[in-house]
Parts: sequence; C-alpha cells; structure tokens
Amino acid sequence: MNKLQEEIIRLKKEKQAIILAHNYQKPEIQDIADFMGDSIELCRKAHQTRARMIVFCGVDFMAQSAVILNPDKKVLIPSKAALCPMAQMLPPDYLKFWQQRHPGVPSVLYVNTLGEAKALCDVCCTSANAVKIVEKMPEKKILFGPDSHLAAYVAKETGKEIIPVPSHGYCPVHVLFEKEDLLKLKAMHPEAILMIHPECPMEAIQMADFVGSTSQMGHFVEQTDAKTFIVGTEIGLIHRLKKENPKKEFIPANPEAICTAMKAITLEKVYMALKEERYEVNLSEKVVKAAQQSLEKMVEIVK
Ligand code: 13P
Ligand code: SF4
Repeated sequence: MNKLQEEIIRLKKEKQAIILAHNYQKPEIQDIADFMGDSIELCRKAHQTRARMIVFCGVDFMAQSAVILNPDKKVLIPSKAALCPMAQMLPPDYLKFWQQRHPGVPSVLYVNTLGEAKALCDVCCTSANAVKIVEKMPEKKILFGPDSHLAAYVAKETGKEIIPVPSHGYCPVHVLFEKEDLLKLKAMHPEAILMIHPECPMEAIQMADFVGSTSQMGHFVEQTDAKTFIVGTEIGLIHRLKKENPKKEFIPANPEAICTAMKAITLEKVYMALKEERYEVNLSEKVVKAAQQSLEKMVEIVK
C-alpha cells in the first residue's frame, strides 16, 4: 500500500465513508475499496450501507443509482469525467416518444441510463439479471434500452419481442470484441474458456462458453476447474480475477477494451473527494421518487 492509499484509508475512517468500486476500476482503486462489484451488487451495497457517505468509484449512472436508493446519504463521485457514453444514448424525451408509439408496452431499462430516464420506466435491470427480469414479466412485447446488444441477447434467451430503444444503442468498449479476433485467440489457446459480457455483439455472444456480468464471470471462474480463461469484457476485471484466482490464467479478449470513463477515477481524485467532500451527486426529488420505484422493483425481483 502506498502513502496516498494509506491516507485515503485514514480519511475514509475519519469521515465515516465507504468506498464502493466497480470491477473495471484501476487496480490501485480496487485495492482500497471496501466493496467491489458489478452494477447490481453495487446497487445492493449502496442500499444496505450504514456509512454516512458513499464514495462511488464507478460511472455517473451507478453513482446516481446510489443516490436514488439512498436519498438521505451523501454520494460522491471523484471525477466529473466519469460519464458512461451509453447512458447518454437514451434521452428521456426519446424514451417518452417510443412509449407513446407503443401504448401498453412496458419499458425495461438497463441501469446504464440517466436518472431522468429511469424515472420513466417500469423496471430497471442489469446485465446480471436482464433475462430473469424480462422472463418474469407477463407481457410478450417489451421496450428495452439503451443497449441494443443486450436487447438482442435478452430476445434470444426469452423468446419475447424486444424493441430496442434507441435502435442502435451500444457500449463503445464492448463492441470491440470481434469474431475474427476471438477465433484467433481460441485457436492459440484451445484449452481456454471464453467468457463474454452480454453488452457484446451477438457474433461474440454466440461463440462464448459463458455469458454474464462482470461479477458473474468471477463466480464462474471460481466454480470451474479450467485453468485458462479468455476475458471478453473491459480489462479492469482481470486484476480482480487474478487476485482471487492466483493459480489461473486470464487472457484479455481485447487488450484495448478500456473504458476511459471508468479510468477517469484516480487515487488523487478519490483523496480529494474525501478531503473536500466532492463531487456530490444530486438529483431532483421528483426524479429520485420516480426512479426509486423502478430500481427497487428490480432489487425486489432478484433478491
Ligand atoms: P456489470 O454490471 O456487468 O458490471 O456491467 C456494467 C457495465 O457498465 C458494463 O459495461
Ligand atoms: Fe459505459 Fe461501456 Fe464503460 Fe460500461 S464499459 S461504463 S457501458 S462505456
């Protein structure tokens, strides 16, 4: 542990804060986190914590979810640049337009959306539970956004009619996993298990031995005897996988799959966030109330 990390731990105790970090965070941030997780685990932890303050090392929509679930708590995001581009792809008015075109069709929104969009949907989901949530709904036709690749995966798994809103929403990191590269890697490592995140295009999903969220990949690795894994998601997850499974080997499916929004969080920024209690994430009371219902419904369905 370096001096700055020690100072962060000291300040964190002094301020009665908890540091929540997503699995894509830089290794040095992962190493000082109180809790690491995927989107749903971070939502749950934010929901349960008794800490006075949450320092959220992740992107904007995740920190907003922590506020929605804990409106009385101070939630800080260490960098204003930690903005998920996918969450910006579904402006609330655009969702409203599609809801009006499909009256009576429920909307399921991936948590990777802005609070204002969440406030307009019926239920939220994450990559770990999207299939389960859609399966449990009685309707056969569903509006789903903003990730069109996750929408296609949910349609394939549930057999329901899924209308992607917008039609081409995507994660700029997960579209970098291409069939040709994966075929080459598989040929080089025939013994390796290929894990793919459901934000990836269908051609990558169809090649996978396992499809799941970042933490689901972690659980899968622990439960599987295989020694070598090709990791089809943002490279940040590999630090955690290696730490928890030192005897196994992890090969990035694309070493350039780096989420710059996640990497905007640095140790210096976490230190300043704690010291100055910045940058506080704020949402209007109206948005919090409306979005709370769709997030809590998700937490309830998959508890
Ligand atoms: P997970 O919920 O699988 O961690 O995914 C979050 C995310 O933003 C993936 O790009
Ligand atoms: Fe957003 Fe993609 Fe980064 Fe996840 S990996 S935070 S979806 S840009």
